[in-house]
Formats: sequence, C-alpha cells, structure tokens
Amino acid sequence: MITVVGSINMDLVVGAERFPKQGETVLGNLHTTVPGGKGANQAVAAVRLGSKVGMIGAVGTDPFGDELAANLENEGIDVSGVKRVEGPSGIANILLSEGDNRIIVVPGANHELAPEDIDKGESIIASSDLVVLQLEIPIPAVLRTLEIARRNRIPVILNPAPADGFIDEFLQYEPILTPNESEAAIIFGENWERALEAHPNRLIVTLGRDGARYYDGKQHVRVPGIRVKAVDTTGAGDTFNGALAVALAEKMPLEDAIRFANAAASLSVEQFGAQGGMPKRGETLKRLQKAK
Ligand code: RIB
Repeated sequence: MITVVGSINMDLVVGAERFPKQGETVLGNLHTTVPGGKGANQAVAAVRLGSKVGMIGAVGTDPFGDELAANLENEGIDVSGVKRVEGPSGIANILLSEGDNRIIVVPGANHELAPEDIDKGESIIASSDLVVLQLEIPIPAVLRTLEIARRNRIPVILNPAPADGFIDEFLQYEPILTPNESEAAIIFGENWERALEAHPNRLIVTLGRDGARYYDGKQHVRVPGIRVKAVDTTGAGDTFNGALAVALAEKMPLEDAIRFANAAASLSVEQFGAQGGMPKRGETLKRLQKAK
C-alpha cells in the first residue's frame, strides 16, 4: 500500500494561442475545471497502476471540496485521512499555451494540514510500503510525515515541487528526491549534477521527454524518456512519481522502476488534464514493451 500525503486542488484551466505578455490581455480558446493537486494526482497515478492507495490531505467545505473528495473515492483511494476544513479548497490556475503550462496555486484548505493530522494518520503511514510527499502542504506537516516514516522504517519519495519550499533539514531523513531540472537547480544550485554523486540512488532528476538521471554509486545513469506528441504536459511529473512509487513499492530495481515511470508519464501527456491521461497498468506495460 502507498500513502500519499499532499495537496488536493481543483484545476481551473485556461488555454490560449500564446501566453500574454506582462500587462497584456489575450483571448483564450478553452476553459474547464478538472481535479488536480500534486498529491491527489500522484495518488490517482498510483491507484490506476494497480496499488492500494491512501491519501492524507485537506479539502474545503465549498462545492469543490465535495467534488475533489468524490473524485478520489471514485478512483478507489482511501480518503479516511482527508479532512474537511471550513473555507475554500485549494485551486490551481493553469494557463496552457505553446505546448507548455504556467501554474499559480492558491492553497486554501491544503494549508490547514497540520502535524496533528499526520499524527492521526500514523497507523496508515506505518502500514504502508512507501510514502509519497510533495511541497504544496505546510512544511511542518512534511517534516512530521518524514519523522513518522523514519520511526516506522517506511521509505519515502519526496517530490520537491514547488522547490521554493525545500529546506535542507529534509535531507537528514534520506528520502528519494525527484526534482525536475529547474527544481534541482533551486535546491542544489546551477551545478546540481554534482549533487547526484552525493545522493547515490536517492536523487533522481527528471528531464521531461529526455527521461531521468541518477548516480548508482559507481556510474551516472540516464534512463531515456519515450518521445510522444504531447497534448498537455500538466501532471506528467505527478504520473512519473506515482508510477515510480508503485514500482519501488513492488521492489523493482531502480532503473526498471524509472523506465516504468517514464512509460506512464509518456502516456499521461497524450491526453488533456493532469489526471485525464493517467494510464492503467496494462497500457503502461504495453508502452514499455513497445519502447524496447
Ligand atoms: O503538477 C500539476 C499540478 O500542480 C496541477 O494539477 C495543479 O493542481 C498543481 O498542483
């Protein structure tokens, strides 16, 4: 079983031919709302790939809160660790254009997730094969999760996104870190490549369509990505993390686990929405086979 401790957002998605410049207005061509949030996305990715998943997080008392909780439940995720807090749920304002996205998250209920809520979920964490964290929830909640996981000897994947919230104290818990290149530069500096050797098999830097790299203790390894025509890259990193969690919880060797995660991520970008293209296990194994 995988426990995801993280954010749950409603994504307010707007599309346009091009990004507006500062102070400029452009006409858009798309507007929709879909469930998102890095935590929820990673939970959905993992459950679709065949793992049992429990989620610890918070939604508001607004209609989005009902929809977001129902969405997780419909996916088959255990939401007993998701609390309701008075006020609005988290939202993400997502601008899609030029094959890329720009996102502003307003945390809402996510920022009410406290260390005490994590304590309440200790038995869920303790019975997990692996815990997954991101940084869209308050740092004290992240730290308490790391403490509880260490006490119960449960491995943790910490996806340090957004990276501005990263603090060096996280490193003492020795989580597996999965930044993308720009997050790696924020955390370890422009020469982040050097950090790979300091964290063998624990620092996996994702490179988008180019795959991911890490240091295995003897040599640098790059696991190539699978190139596809992307419709929407939102949630690709979350699919990678959810899939990596599933593979590592099943004790797949790291390189194979990354290959599996790359295959899942390549499928996710072929459809619209963070969760829209997240694949099931069968499709992912087929894509993996085809890429060989
Ligand atoms: O990683 C994509 C996610 O980031 C979106 O679903 C949005 O909610 C933000 O949290």
